[in-house]
Amino acid sequence: MRLLALSGSLRARSSNGAVLRSALAFWDGPAATADIGALPHFNPDLDGEDATPSTPVAALRTQVAAADALLVVSPEYAHGVPGALKNALDWLVSSGECVAKPVAVITASPFPTGGDHANAQLRETLRMMTGEVIEAACRELPAIGPKIDPTTERVTDETTLSELRAALSHLAAATRASAPTPTPAAAATAPHEPEGP
Ligand SMILES: Cc1cc2nc3c(=O)[nH]c(=O)nc-3n(C[C@H](O)[C@H](O)[C@H](O)COP(=O)(O)O)c2cc1C
Repeated sequence: MRLLALSGSLRARSSNGAVLRSALAFWDGPAATADIGALPHFNPDLDGEDATPSTPVAALRTQVAAADALLVVSPEYAHGVPGALKNALDWLVSSGECVAKPVAVITASPFPTGGDHANAQLRETLRMMTGEVIEAACRELPAIGPKIDPTTERVTDETTLSELRAALSHLAAATRASAPTPTPAAAATAPHEPEGP
């Protein structure tokens, strides 16, 4: 199962980037991170069926289409979703790559109660895009600063790591459950596992 992660922070030493990298360690399968920083501002005039998407937009759509699940990790800006991340999602609304795709939303904040607005807004937007938001895989991670090692830029706090492990486990289970059942013909041609003793 292939996972695509999107970070809402473009900052080089982003705490959400550190959370994202730490979370990916719990994904059993190929994983990639989307580059949303180079996307142009969303413009419906450039989004129609007749429009040729720019290279970064086409690349994002290809990456999302190839993924079996999505992980969105983001800070909150002014009680909202960072513009770069909302812009990326807007490019995926009409093209439909998120439809029925299992998604987890994780927001990390330096503040004791931060991130809840952006988390709720992201889940709402992704639901509106008919992504399959896996509530059990969503997390708000407050007071994240001291839980990250500044040298390795990875989460070191055991409680937070347990939360990330659980979140990714829920996302993986939902992704397996939503995978299309193989047709009898496909099952007949699929490689067989060797039988146990
Ligand atoms: C313009 C701006 C607005 C912010 N607004 C919020 C906010 O509403 N809630 C919050 O929890 N943190 C807020 N913050 C703090 C960010 O959570 C903090 O800078 C965090 O480190 C950003 O995530 P990053 O480390 O992944 O880049 C804001 C930061 C900036 C720069």
